[in-house]
Amino acid sequence: MILEILVIHILVLVVIYLKYQRRFQLAQKIPGPWFIPCVGNVQLASLTAETLFLKLNDYSKEYKDCFRMWLGTSLWVFIHNPKDIQELLNKRELLRVDEFYHLHPLIGDGLLLLNGNRWSLHRKALSHAFSTNILRQFFPAISRHADVLVSKLNTTDNVEITDYLLLCILDAICETSMGAHINAQMDSKSAYVEAFHNASHILFKRMSNPLLQSHYVFRLTPDYKKVKMAIATLHALTDNIISAKRKQLNGHIKEDENPEGTRKPALLDVLMQCEINGKHLTDQEIKDHVNTFLFAGIDTTKSGTSFILYNIAKYKNVQERLYEEITSLIGTDPGQEINASYIPNLPYLDAVMKESLRLHTAVPVSARQTAKEITIGNYTYPESTALWINIYGMCHDSRIFKSPYEFNPDRFLTPDWVDEHGDYAFIPFSAGLRVCIGKQYAIFTMKTIIIKILLSYQIELTYPEEQLQLLAEMVLKSKTGINLKFRKRESNK
Ligand code: HEM
Repeated sequence: MILEILVIHILVLVVIYLKYQRRFQLAQKIPGPWFIPCVGNVQLASLTAETLFLKLNDYSKEYKDCFRMWLGTSLWVFIHNPKDIQELLNKRELLRVDEFYHLHPLIGDGLLLLNGNRWSLHRKALSHAFSTNILRQFFPAISRHADVLVSKLNTTDNVEITDYLLLCILDAICETSMGAHINAQMDSKSAYVEAFHNASHILFKRMSNPLLQSHYVFRLTPDYKKVKMAIATLHALTDNIISAKRKQLNGHIKEDENPEGTRKPALLDVLMQCEINGKHLTDQEIKDHVNTFLFAGIDTTKSGTSFILYNIAKYKNVQERLYEEITSLIGTDPGQEINASYIPNLPYLDAVMKESLRLHTAVPVSARQTAKEITIGNYTYPESTALWINIYGMCHDSRIFKSPYEFNPDRFLTPDWVDEHGDYAFIPFSAGLRVCIGKQYAIFTMKTIIIKILLSYQIELTYPEEQLQLLAEMVLKSKTGINLKFRKRESNK
């Protein structure tokens, strides 16, 4: 009996080997840690999300340009060489990686998950919605929601800032993308806010847990029902707003009769006018795009802003220099509206933002999948390889950034590393063909919030340094929040 089982196992392995022979041969040339053929890198199986992240970070340092990992017969390659990344990010034939499709129930065929010609057509059409001229119109709304945030920070208690930021950014993005006033900052227990929390938490958890990849396994967990309900709540809002807008456009209801009170321009208005090959987008396409903006925009912008605030609180000299720069440009009135023309004229704020995104990296990786064999740099990758763009790895590579774990915004004021390594060495919003479409929107939002907070408060860290040593905890936003204290500025008391 044992002999028969052994023979069957060997036969299965031989069949797998023959099927994937070419794959194994090509992968052999890519460096990486030891693994068991057809089983994978078992040494990583028991690691938690945080410790896995640290391990991958060690591998980025150990292997020069890239390293490979096996999950059964699935091949993953993490690339952190800026030249190869540049080539990769400009190859049209690469697809979104399979792991991203767990988001499909929430964001459907939104931009993030499209490929090929359909992606090109939609990307071109949507780029107009994110043009600087359109984004300028969103400043008053973003500034107003930042004012509400500032008023909420008026407390002597410690504040776990990431929760506050999430609600502020949720309010701003819902208003500017759909014209919806969900008032998350005033009603943080609303069904919509809870649904947003649940959906993003469970979907991220699923994407980072190999055991939950199978649909059949995931359906057996309590999270399946919870995420389904959360998605239904989120979609109901988008559906209602789109159908009200459609009625308005068709002249069935007047603007001021709109149940959501939509008056200010929103991304949705632009999407309604978009044409692809002479046809307007369907309601389903618009819904998928709007849901994608919410999903792709809120958590990322929240993390980015939290990291900037954390560094400002930690480094008093940076905070003072920033306050100086801001007030010498726009004065000290905390109630003023922040407008788009201020943003390019605050170079130190820009450097602090970039250095915070470098050190903590709101989106540590993105990914592509090969549709067929492809050569990038010195390696040929087989069909169906997941190519992970190791943004975090490049940001912490001492060959690119001197003392990479030190917070030093000045490195972005005189960026000499660009001469040697090029622009693709620092890509917090990715780059190339699929660069984050919301990049300018996110930068405007983060800077507006920071300016508004600094005009009103001096910020202090309120918890011991050691708690932050496990960088992964911050990067993965899972375990720890960022506790700060906000002291009203003397001039505003
Ligand atoms: C600090 C904030 C943000 C960061 C760090 C960030 C980062 C990224 C990254 C790394 C990608 C992957 C690009 C690739 O695979 O090459 C991406 C894609 C994307 N982001 Fe952002 N993002 C942020 C905010 C936003 C906002 C505010 C929006 C929308 C309002 C947005 C919408 C998108 C969309 C739609 C894509 C997919 C683009 C495509 O595939 O063509 N992001 N973002």
